[in-house]
Amino acid sequence: MKIPFIHSQSRTDAGPGRVGLDTASDSTTLRELFRGCPDAEWLWALTDGRAEHPCLRRLFPALPEEQFQKQFTGRSNRDTFTQAIDATNLFLGEARALGLDLDRPGLEVLDFGCGWGRITQTLFRDFDPARITGCDVADQALAICRETRLGCELIKIPYLPPTELSEASADLIVAYSVFSHLSEDAHMAWVEELARVLRPGGVLVVTTRCRAFIDYTESVRRQPEIPPHALGTAASFRDPEAWKQRYDRGEFCFDGANNGQHWPDDYYGEAVVPEGFASAKWSRFFTQIRFTPAEKHGKFDQSVIAARKSG
Ligand SMILES: C[S@@+](CC[C@H](N)C(=O)[O-])C[C@H]1O[C@@H](n2cnc3c(N)ncnc32)[C@H](O)[C@@H]1O
Repeated sequence: MKIPFIHSQSRTDAGPGRVGLDTASDSTTLRELFRGCPDAEWLWALTDGRAEHPCLRRLFPALPEEQFQKQFTGRSNRDTFTQAIDATNLFLGEARALGLDLDRPGLEVLDFGCGWGRITQTLFRDFDPARITGCDVADQALAICRETRLGCELIKIPYLPPTELSEASADLIVAYSVFSHLSEDAHMAWVEELARVLRPGGVLVVTTRCRAFIDYTESVRRQPEIPPHALGTAASFRDPEAWKQRYDRGEFCFDGANNGQHWPDDYYGEAVVPEGFASAKWSRFFTQIRFTPAEKHGKFDQSVIAARKSG
């Protein structure tokens, strides 16, 4: 593939401090090279670029095997990074909309439920790895982050708080497809814990399954042969009409029939969180709360809840 954009006008437009790949020194960072670049260029860097260009091979972590990547989100390589860039753009947009100054020096980011580090890596366009912490409950996930040299601090956390995450240590916390699986009790325990970890004025952005997911489970059930990775989905939200009514009343929708996961059913399954629930229950910990349904942002199939801690 042709290396796109690297010497194009769009790069010189991006501001001072930008250096070309061919002149990058050992101390150049991905942020210096790509900050403000178009998404297509960042996608190239995260995929073909890191494989093709010696400078990028050095600056990026290694990529886990395709099968391993798929274990976390069912996606891999270009497909997974396309989704991750969309998600990260939305997360950062929400943080800005809630008044967080993302250019503030020393800003700290936490990727909650980092998995193998795909969202973490897409954050490298805007933040140096030293400013990002990844945490997860799964040893296997943290082990691969270390093996691939993700370059961020990594913290193992338990299924439920308390954690060793320091109080008021993060300005921005993102969680892609973690709250999409947590029961109501686990959800609320983590919201409280992450509010503790945020600095005053900090922002939490998480995703949850969207309303359309309830009908999607029915379509999976109707398939003549259900693939193993979809068994949990197929087992969830039987009687979709009743679940949708619940959702429309603003009630938390959780089904722990996750079939195949090793985690307890009362903790992990499929969670579809409506706006009414987030507005009512998150207000104990946050001053401003924004809910963007997947149907509205149209970028990926999860809804987004963002909230700002007072201060
Ligand atoms: C669907 S994967 C998403 C991974 C990553 N956020 C991404 O988008 O690539 C969900 C991740 O959440 C992690 N997880 C589950 N429960 C968690 C918890 N209570 N705290 C932190 N991570 C958790 C899982 O181990 C897994 O890595």
